Amino acid sequence: MNFNMNDLIIKKRDGKPLSTEEINWIIDGTVKGTIPDYQLSALLMAIFFRGLDRDETYALTAAMRYSGDIVDLSAIRGIKVDKHSTGGVGDKTTLVVAPLASACGVPIAKMSGRGLGFTGGTVDKMESIPGFRIELEPEEFLAQVRDIGMAVIGQSAHIDPADKKLYALRDVTGTVDNFGLIASSIMSKKLAAGSDAIVLDVKCGEGAFMENIEDAVTLADLMVDIGYDAGRRTVACITDMSQPLGKAVGNALEVMEAIDTLYGRGPEDITELSVKLAGIMIYLGGKAETPEDGQKLAGEALTSRTGLTQMRMFIEAQGGNGDVIYDYSLFPQPAHSLELRASCSGYVAKINARQIGLASQHLGAGRASKEDKIDLSAGIVLNKKVGDRVEEGELLLTLLGNDQTKLEAGQRLAERAFRFSDEPVERPELIKEIIGL
Ligand code: URA
Repeated sequence: MNFNMNDLIIKKRDGKPLSTEEINWIIDGTVKGTIPDYQLSALLMAIFFRGLDRDETYALTAAMRYSGDIVDLSAIRGIKVDKHSTGGVGDKTTLVVAPLASACGVPIAKMSGRGLGFTGGTVDKMESIPGFRIELEPEEFLAQVRDIGMAVIGQSAHIDPADKKLYALRDVTGTVDNFGLIASSIMSKKLAAGSDAIVLDVKCGEGAFMENIEDAVTLADLMVDIGYDAGRRTVACITDMSQPLGKAVGNALEVMEAIDTLYGRGPEDITELSVKLAGIMIYLGGKAETPEDGQKLAGEALTSRTGLTQMRMFIEAQGGNGDVIYDYSLFPQPAHSLELRASCSGYVAKINARQIGLASQHLGAGRASKEDKIDLSAGIVLNKKVGDRVEEGELLLTLLGNDQTKLEAGQRLAERAFRFSDEPVERPELIKEIIGL
């Protein structure tokens, strides 16, 4: 069927729903390049203001999912479980959760993304391990999951090309923040990636797309419904992103913290969240009777260090130097460091995750545009978290990087992230809600 793009833009602009045939035609034209960017951008803006109803969102997800290759994981035995985070600051959970779940027998065949803006991406983090290859041929990828139970690769250019095109346009036309567009973008990629079950970590707070709990629940509900509609067991955890997760922000720094966590000496929040998420994955993967039993198994994989052994095998299978788990000097090292100390005494009331993410990006740990090269050694290590007591002059954080001028500017940005209180402050609730269990 053929449609007129201008008519479809007007239809959406006037608040009328698009039919599945119309959405399929738009996605086909997006991938083939027959619809110009200016018309796609106008449609995205119309969607941004008018929204997508459930049927439109399901139809858009399905059309994007099938816009390119579909990963076939049927050659791998067992229930494959994928995990996705909507993106945050200091979020290295994949690097802990994947080895823990895999050590408990859940096959992990994961595609991850790069960071953009102030949020980090797993692919960039993995590249800080000397020798690590993030690009594997499809046969290598499947063979590795069969052999050692785990592989993590970069998003293939052939999977969901429609999302690639539309996300790039959304990124420069002010149309990212829309429930239907975010849900269909994330879920079309996850569904095309071939796993049988999906665990979503929906971040909530100033350092995330969803700044409040109501919006996070709306997005999580929508994604869980899309997953079930497509026949995949899908669970969403809404988790705190009002302050950075863990203490390390930056690529090599976050891999080191993930390894520390697998040793059982990581920060409390990253440990708790990783065990929770891995527990749900172990349950969905059929290796535990209940999510609680799954958590118990994940906790045992941590204390027995089988998760750490799995991490080492995974690093080596992808060409990386597995000795990094003993020797952090093998990671890229920053030439300079700068401290930020408290100018008053009190309790830490707030550490704005977005502000810390922006400071870390400024040091070189993140990209402002896709073409930027990142400094894998750069980032921030927090010495305090919300609720901690601080005395005047005490260390709040350390900035690391290769450019002294950037460190000084980063220090000013990071300073603005902190708020103090004279009264004791409660730590924010880490896991706010679980949907779909
Ligand atoms: N992550 C995605 O993959 N897509 C979005 O739209 C937002 C976050």
